[in-house]
Amino acid sequence: MDNFIFHNPVRLIFGEGQVKEHLVDQLKEYGKKVLLVYGGGSIKKNGLYDEVVQLLEDGGFSVSELSGVEPNPRLSTVHRGVDICKNDDIEVILAVGGGSVIDCTKAIAAGAKYDGDVWDFVTKKAFPEDALPFGTILTLAATGSEMNAGSVITNWETHEKYGWGMPPYTFPKFSILDPRNTLSVPKNHTVYGIVDMMSHVFEQYFHQQMNTPLQEHMCEAVLKTVIEAGPELIENLDDVKLRETILYSGTIALNGMLQMGVRGDWASHNIEHAVSAVYDIPHAGGLAILFPQWMRHHKESGERKLVNLAVRVWGVDPAGKSGQEVAEEGIRKLEEFWSSLGAPSRLADYDIDDSQLDLMADKAMANGPFGNFNKLEKADVLAILKASL
Ligand code: NZQ
Ligand code: ZN
Repeated sequence: MDNFIFHNPVRLIFGEGQVKEHLVDQLKEYGKKVLLVYGGGSIKKNGLYDEVVQLLEDGGFSVSELSGVEPNPRLSTVHRGVDICKNDDIEVILAVGGGSVIDCTKAIAAGAKYDGDVWDFVTKKAFPEDALPFGTILTLAATGSEMNAGSVITNWETHEKYGWGMPPYTFPKFSILDPRNTLSVPKNHTVYGIVDMMSHVFEQYFHQQMNTPLQEHMCEAVLKTVIEAGPELIENLDDVKLRETILYSGTIALNGMLQMGVRGDWASHNIEHAVSAVYDIPHAGGLAILFPQWMRHHKESGERKLVNLAVRVWGVDPAGKSGQEVAEEGIRKLEEFWSSLGAPSRLADYDIDDSQLDLMADKAMANGPFGNFNKLEKADVLAILKASL
């Protein structure tokens, strides 16, 4: 494996009733003037907004609000948040929502202490020298953003969507995860969350580093857990124990634990970001379509990993079959699994045809050939997109 230094400073507070127990104490370490950031209103419907506002009021905080953060959060919304921080002398930000709200908050936190445009950070033209501290209350199991330093921001004017992250500034100071706060997530977003966390594991499973048996087995354990609990949860959306298992899985899938000593691939994510920059589809809807085709594109170079996945995770019997046959059977099991949950499988499911393939491929290639398992050129991206139609 590669040499590595692991440092994750996020204070993870997990379990039922933990918002009431810890929110005020956690926040007051950083100040009394809070910007509360949330999305399109799910937290108003499920009562979490009222609970948080009451706790903040009782705790003596002064609260400004930024609402309406969109799924695939936009730069224009980040700008609104930065303006509020500067005008109201905000000392600490509290994100209450899914990955989009948290990612938006990361950009606001960095932008609040910067004189230029926060897009400079997203496009890596500048590096923050300071940022506001922020904490999160996660409401959707999916991205891992609650315990990593990554953020994904869309510039809708230019149709660009990029992942960026500038630790330590974009690490939350704390994240509070109560599975009860995910009970109201509807079926489609529960499915997307499951697809996203599994994709994060795949991105880290496909690496070129040698001698990584524990990393591989840890990935397989997360996948098996999600494959076991996911379908049960889809049938029982109000089961808090299943919500708990999936919530914890989503965090472990992308908090750096699986990445020690390896360099994950991330090409499928890069292609998905290009697709959703043009069509604004849900992130994991895109992944469900693209990832199996990325795997097929690597069936020869990735045969060892694909066979391990097929046999160890999907229970494929390899007896009397070639490696290529076993690999293909594993990919088909993955497609069947995601389809059985209700995830899309073709770009056509989002009415995406071949008219913008070239544009999407160019957007994916914005920073040149990409992917750490194998470097993808534009022809590879086009082949994967075409196979996904
Ligand atoms: O906006 P509200 O009203 O809150 O509704 C949201 C939204 O419509 C709803 N929702 C969230 N919690 C809910 C709920 N509805 C009912 N009850 C609840 N408890 O779910 C919808 C989707 O929310 P969103 O935050 O967009 O989903 P997700 O967490 O999947 O985040 C997606 C974004 O994260 C980025 C994606 O590209 C996308 O922009 N990613 C961020 C990563 C990171 N920071 O590490 C990694 C990922 O790979 C991903 O790229
Ligand atoms: Zn993802």
